[in-house]
Amino acid sequence: MLVYVNGQWLNDNEATISILDRGFVFADAVYEVVRIYNGRYFYLDRHLQRLKQSLSALRIDVDVDSLEIVCRELLERNKTDQGSLYLQISRGAAQRVHGLPQGLTPTVVAYVKGLSNLDTSLQESGGKAIFYEDTRWFMCNIKTVGLLINCLAKGEALSQGADDAIFHRGEIVTEATSSNIFIVKNGTLYTHPNGNLILPGITRQVVIELAHELQIPVEEKPFTREELLAADELFLTGTMAEITPYVKVEGRTIGEGKPGCVTRRLQDAFSQLTR
Ligand code: PDD
Repeated sequence: MLVYVNGQWLNDNEATISILDRGFVFADAVYEVVRIYNGRYFYLDRHLQRLKQSLSALRIDVDVDSLEIVCRELLERNKTDQGSLYLQISRGAAQRVHGLPQGLTPTVVAYVKGLSNLDTSLQESGGKAIFYEDTRWFMCNIKTVGLLINCLAKGEALSQGADDAIFHRGEIVTEATSSNIFIVKNGTLYTHPNGNLILPGITRQVVIELAHELQIPVEEKPFTREELLAADELFLTGTMAEITPYVKVEGRTIGEGKPGCVTRRLQDAFSQLTR
């Protein structure tokens, strides 16, 4: 696999970064995952816009326009039909000190991965989830590589035979481990509002726009675990999840226990965008 590391194009087994890299030491790094459909990036502009916000929140100074050129060249060199781009930028390497050392050269890593035999069975039949207390920090809108709680939650879900974990702060449902969450109740979509408790998902935004086009009402307001369990339909949205229905949470059946018609309409509309 061809990898871009700080201006060099290398094979992944030749690519190295410093053990002093602050991404490695402090999770002092941000990232994006962008889907590639039919050889083209899906909303690369929106991902780069969000990356700009993440970089600015961490006060890492990188010219995002030059990153766009790297992303485009990567796809050009890797000719990938169906796949994803991973792009990570850390503050750079420095002696291990707390605080924010100035004048570092940020570490930029990017690669493209093919997804030829992606399993879409969950999108067809619906998944099972557990609840998991959202003990992450209060800056979940910044897409940092500090994903340990997300990994613990997903690991717990898998160990219980479920497919994912749904985070909640107290009774309020926030998002899932690598996707946003929507419920449908009496024909209306509900999802947690943007802010510091969730990642402002690109897919979430696309789904809201599709819902407007399909005249499905959307309310960006918090809902509780109880409301989730009483929902007619439930689905997760994300770059890799696309729109994935969930039909069981904590062993309780959601709606009729199968992907519902609002979810299906949105999945159909979404698939038009990715053709
Ligand atoms: N994750 N919420 C969290 C916590 C996420 O990590 C992600 C994406 C999303 C969905 O955002 P988007 O629609 O922009 O992909 C929501 C990526 C795919 C990942 O970590 O692999």
